[in-house]
Amino acid sequence: MEQSIKKLTAYLNSARSVFHAVAGLAAQLEGEGYTLLSEGQPWQLEKGGKYYLTRGGSSLIAFRVPKGEALGFAMTASHSDRPTFKVKENGELVSAYTRLAVERYGGMLIAPWLDRPLSVAGRVVVKTPQGIQSRLVDMDQDLAMIPNVAIHMNRQANEGYKWNPATDVLPLLGTKQSAGKFFASLENQAGGQILGHDLTLYVRESARVWGMDSEFISAPALDDLQCAFGCAQGFLNAGESGNIPVLCVFDSEEVGSGSLQGAASDLLEATLSRVCEALRLDKRIMLSHSFLISADNAHALHPNHPELADSANAPVLGGGIAIKFNANQKYTSSGMSAAVMRAVCQKAGVSAQTYCNRADIPGGSTLGNISLSQVSVLSVDIGLPQLAMHSCYETAAVADYLALEKAIACFYSTTLRQTADGAITID
Ligand code: CO
Repeated sequence: MEQSIKKLTAYLNSARSVFHAVAGLAAQLEGEGYTLLSEGQPWQLEKGGKYYLTRGGSSLIAFRVPKGEALGFAMTASHSDRPTFKVKENGELVSAYTRLAVERYGGMLIAPWLDRPLSVAGRVVVKTPQGIQSRLVDMDQDLAMIPNVAIHMNRQANEGYKWNPATDVLPLLGTKQSAGKFFASLENQAGGQILGHDLTLYVRESARVWGMDSEFISAPALDDLQCAFGCAQGFLNAGESGNIPVLCVFDSEEVGSGSLQGAASDLLEATLSRVCEALRLDKRIMLSHSFLISADNAHALHPNHPELADSANAPVLGGGIAIKFNANQKYTSSGMSAAVMRAVCQKAGVSAQTYCNRADIPGGSTLGNISLSQVSVLSVDIGLPQLAMHSCYETAAVADYLALEKAIACFYSTTLRQTADGAITID
């Protein structure tokens, strides 16, 4: 297996919650000598310096200050969250059995969550002598299961089923004797009284590479950790350009991005403003030479349902990076920004495909256009083609991921300069 795919699968297997997903990226940045900045302290930035910050423990921005002149920001944005089930505040239900009380986070496919071992990860906030502190936790055991109803009790089960999120999906945790043990175990792990928590379910199945020629990869949260990790590797592998490279990974995309740390927050705008202030750069001129790649996975042509795709704009698994288009700007791509992205892909020697929704199927949206409402720069939406989006176990292609790493490294190594409205040089 390629080294890049080994690293990707290791990351996916460790990223069991949105907090773990960001902690994994932060650990890699630390290992590469990046300095952690605090939003609560003044920033002193050095030429050639490498920095990152997090907000809410679940969004992250990293950037490098070039040794030479900085013309604009070269940015990628992807998301750290995934559809899952969140454990409710009073998270244990005790009746004939002990169950977890959960509610849906984001728009998931429910059926794949049933009849497979599940566990719980996230963060808890505990009382310590130094004040309240958040701690990552992971139950890391085959802990819970959402059992199906037997066919004998639901003869119509194979003719379509309407799930009731309040009753059908409560995970079985133990017998009556297990009551009280779940939070006690977490307090034990966190080393203090829990005053608050953000805990979500994850499936125990690890990432796998499979297929006749080992061409596919399946894992939880490929949407969008595959792009988040791929953009991070491209960011780390890139050489210096005339732009400031910026890596953004935002939480809350699956619920509309409206949170303290989501793409609709001031996190990116505040970060770019502070970089410009610290380096005495004119932010408005910088933004006019800036470019954002919004990277969030795209629907691949389904092998059994090709009729659901636009016949002329349907990416296939293994065909390369998908550039996403929508006339109503659910995706930010324009003729101009798509041309820049295609030029970057050509320079990197990787294939690009196009994605459009079938005109009578609305499709999804992403964080690109939400981010532009905070920081307005030329932007393109891309993604890696995948199947079963928002299942708890999704499928994509190995080759497309490798193409993303290459294209993003090339993007960050390239100097983009807007010479006039509608004219850009790519060096
Ligand atoms: Co997504």
